[in-house]
Amino acid sequence: MWRGVIEQYREHLPVTADTPVVTLREGNTPLIPADTLAREIGPDAEVYFKFEGLNPTASFKDRGMTMAVSKALEEGTSAVMCASTGNTSASAAAYASRCGLDCLVIIPEGNIALGKLAQALMHGAKVFAVRGNFDDALRMVREISARYRITLVNSVNPFRIEGQKTGAFEICDALGEPPDYHFIPVGNAGNITAYWKGYTEYHAAGRIDRLPRMMGWQAEGAAPIVRGHVVEKPETLATAIRIGNPASWKQAEAARDASGGMIGMVSDADIIAAYQYMARHEGVFTEPACAACVAGLMRLIREGYFRNAVPAVSGPAGKTARKLRIVCILTGHGLKDPDNALKSSGRPMVIDPTIEAVLEHVPLAPRA
Ligand code: F0G
Repeated sequence: MWRGVIEQYREHLPVTADTPVVTLREGNTPLIPADTLAREIGPDAEVYFKFEGLNPTASFKDRGMTMAVSKALEEGTSAVMCASTGNTSASAAAYASRCGLDCLVIIPEGNIALGKLAQALMHGAKVFAVRGNFDDALRMVREISARYRITLVNSVNPFRIEGQKTGAFEICDALGEPPDYHFIPVGNAGNITAYWKGYTEYHAAGRIDRLPRMMGWQAEGAAPIVRGHVVEKPETLATAIRIGNPASWKQAEAARDASGGMIGMVSDADIIAAYQYMARHEGVFTEPACAACVAGLMRLIREGYFRNAVPAVSGPAGKTARKLRIVCILTGHGLKDPDNALKSSGRPMVIDPTIEAVLEHVPLAPRA
């Protein structure tokens, strides 16, 4: 039986026999082959979606939250707190509810997907909607947790990163090797930091013999790392990554540079196109933020970026060439954000309860 990421990767995590493990059996998410997308690169490429939306609270945050909440409990705290664009608050609220901790969350008013808000409230968190953005909320919770007895569970809490690095372990364990390219959306930049830590630790432990290139993607209206300066008023319909001053900015740049990767940006139109493409051609429904990294991949494919990459991963002469492998981290489930889904896909046709009414819209051939 899968027992969650702490039990699965205990020897790689800062836990002891005394750590009270708070888990919803997170992790063990599938690598779904994205064959339609892979064909656009060529026959020697494989693309996988690591669908983190299949975690217990439907986002990747659960990997970090099982660690952060377990360690908070071990340290004897009575409450946890976070700023959030939605997913962190949903996850914090769920894990806190499981072990009797109070949970306080600060979210940007009007800029959080409906499903995420419902989750935090259902799990009994005290939810404050601030007249400001995520960056304002993060500033507030950092100050509050520095002055008062409450544990901060944003990704500035190192245990969050520790838990989230298990995503990299799972990918390497499933593929038997690291991917060549790791595509990931970037908001507060904790997750790209965590994946890079996971890959480099597996490498140091001799579990893998090379490292992937880290390919991070921001939304154009919220792309401080790409632009090289803080964005005072970040804007994007991908509200999960609507962040102008990421806490792990430096670590994300370090991952990019050490891996020979890149951090790029895509427009909201590109994000919607990728969001629809995944749903209609790969059968995978994510929230818009995840589509940022797929939009980045689609753009690089169009630009011919991978044209010379396949020979580059071929083995030495005489050995079988291996396929180019790309993994995209799909960080959250599409059901979190029904508003954007309905906006980009239209509404059902309202009809009278007759067969003719259906046939008027869809001309079906009669059975012989
Ligand atoms: N994708 C989703 C669905 C997210 O919710 C987030 C961040 C990211 C990507 C970016 O990850 O911040 O580690 O670079 N959500 C945070 C939150 C900010 O509050 O839920 P990151």
